[in-house]
Amino acid sequence: MKDQVNYSLYLVTDSTEAILGSRDLVEVVEQALLGGVTIVQYRDKSSDTGILISTAKKLHEKCKQHNIPLLINDRVDVALAVGCEGVHLGQDDMNISEARRILGEDKIIGATVSSIEEARVAVVRGADYLGIGTLYATNTKKNTKDIIGINGIRKILRFLDTADEASKAVKTVCIGGVNASNLQRIIYQLSAPSPTASKPKTIDGVAIVSAIVGAPNPKEASKHLFQLLVSPPPFKATSNEPHFWLEKDEDEVTHLLAEAIKATKAVRDKSPLSHNMTNLVVQNFAANVALAIGASPIMANYGAEAPDLSKLGGALVINMGTVTPDGLLNYKQAIAAYNAAGGPIVLDPVGAGATSVRRDALQSLMATSYFDVIKGNEREILQVARASGLTLQSEGSGSSQQRGVDSGKALFSLPEKAYVVSLLARRERNVVLMTGATDFISDGTRTYALSNGHAYLGLITGSGCTLGTTISAYIAASPGDKLLAAVAGVLHYEIAAEMAAVRGDVKGPGTFVPAFLDELYNVSVAVGEGKEDWTGVAKVQCIKDVVDAGLLKEL
Ligand SMILES: *[C@@H]1O[C@H](CO)[C@@H](O)[C@H](O)[C@H]1NC(C)=O
Ligand SMILES: *[C@@H]1O[C@H](CO)[C@@H](O)[C@H](O)[C@H]1NC(C)=O
Ligand SMILES: *[C@@H]1O[C@H](CO)[C@@H](O)[C@H](O)[C@H]1NC(C)=O
Ligand SMILES: *[C@@H]1O[C@H](CO)[C@@H](O)[C@H](O)[C@H]1NC(C)=O
Ligand SMILES: *[C@@H]1O[C@H](CO)[C@@H](O)[C@H](O)[C@H]1NC(C)=O
Repeated sequence: MKDQVNYSLYLVTDSTEAILGSRDLVEVVEQALLGGVTIVQYRDKSSDTGILISTAKKLHEKCKQHNIPLLINDRVDVALAVGCEGVHLGQDDMNISEARRILGEDKIIGATVSSIEEARVAVVRGADYLGIGTLYATNTKKNTKDIIGINGIRKILRFLDTADEASKAVKTVCIGGVNASNLQRIIYQLSAPSPTASKPKTIDGVAIVSAIVGAPNPKEASKHLFQLLVSPPPFKATSNEPHFWLEKDEDEVTHLLAEAIKATKAVRDKSPLSHNMTNLVVQNFAANVALAIGASPIMANYGAEAPDLSKLGGALVINMGTVTPDGLLNYKQAIAAYNAAGGPIVLDPVGAGATSVRRDALQSLMATSYFDVIKGNEREILQVARASGLTLQSEGSGSSQQRGVDSGKALFSLPEKAYVVSLLARRERNVVLMTGATDFISDGTRTYALSNGHAYLGLITGSGCTLGTTISAYIAASPGDKLLAAVAGVLHYEIAAEMAAVRGDVKGPGTFVPAFLDELYNVSVAVGEGKEDWTGVAKVQCIKDVVDAGLLKEL
């Protein structure tokens, strides 16, 4: 019976004026049951025992009619009096072992945990499930000590997965600020595949409070949440299942180049909108690059325009070149719109490590958004790893200095770069590109090294940014396989740079810029005419054996 419980849409009630308003709780819960919640916890921290018991009895009647378990928050005595299915205990409530002794083996006992140690103790004491949180700050919960974010939840899940059998078996839900706008992303990101476990531990459900109890129509709200729960997130909807390598490297590269030509043609044919939110430094150049490859640039830094723009089938580029509090709010508004519409987003965390403002901005963006592609140089990608809850294994021992964090020296060897992009891409379930003389790009399953390009790209402003613009247009035009689309964008860009650099009229970076635009355009025109020879110079390597460099550890 107990193991039949479905934790997927877990309703936690709230009787406070701010959330319930003047409505009747029993009616609200009945509406939620009709909408599809799969388990209910009655939480009421202020009513007298008499009220608690009479309300719980009414709730239990309704829950029984729907064959849904009812748990009581905190009060083992109330659960006993009502005869419902169990209790949920916070860290300040009754001891789990004690509650188990009183309630017996058949009742469900859940525990709130916000750290590995609390999770460990709760499992040892016999909890059936853990409510892990707080995920996001909410109006009812602002205590920042307990706000552990998605990284904190990942960490606890990973602990449970690698501890003993009981930890592996314990059910989990996450709680704190889950609502219709973030539910799918949270589930998607917490279900990242693992290289070591075939079925890595993920959450069994999401606990929802105000998004149901405070909703104008709790039945419709629950229905909507349930629908979201059983559907893939929009940013996943247009992409194919994960791809795996073709057996022979030559076949893989041949296939990739054929796809690259198709992707270049798709940009030309579809002329996707490249919606750019960014600094003003190289606007003109970026717009010209977008036009040269066949995309349609639009500059719109005002977030309120994004909901309309996101529906036009284009992509968004978030460039952190200049970060202001106002800009950040606009970014978030635009990201939410594209995430909801499934429009691809490329994040370019320019100079992410340079200041604490940028580090915090990156952290905050990654905690609340899905990015289809994150691109950066090795220092920027290291900050991305930090925002994803990872740090250098060697950090703290002073060797981060040796790794040249503050100098111009390379941080990672080539095999280490392959490892970092593949680890991050798998964890974030997206595409990660680390640029350099050799670029490394991965979707967590396939990893490629790309070695085209020219030194002049490093001598002009905005070359990194405009690569982001290019990739965004490619993914918008070919969303099925985002990794291949991104690779195609990089090849188009870097091969055009090589072609430009060797032209007789190019004398240096200054004359390179117009020649580069010409060659970007030329590649696009050539593809339109059915010519494919430009891919002949592509330098692509499949990295089939990404070695676990043991470089990064959980923060
Ligand atoms: C719980 O219910 C949801 C929605 O019906 C379903 O998709 C899911 O498979 C169920 N989970 C379990 C463990 O039964
Ligand atoms: C909880 O109960 C167990 C077993 O009865 C006991 O060993 C432990 O000390 C108790 N812990 C607290 C905090 O009361
Ligand atoms: C959903 O929750 C997030 C995080 O708590 C919050 O930022 C966002 O405003 C909420 N959205 C809605 C529609 O309530
Ligand atoms: C696009 O991105 C670049 C990169 O920073 C930016 O400078 C430019 O303003 C953006 N605008 C357009 C139209 O591409
Ligand atoms: C463009 O490509 C063609 C071959 O496809 C080549 O002959 C030509 O020189 C290239 N450059 C320009 C600027 O046309």
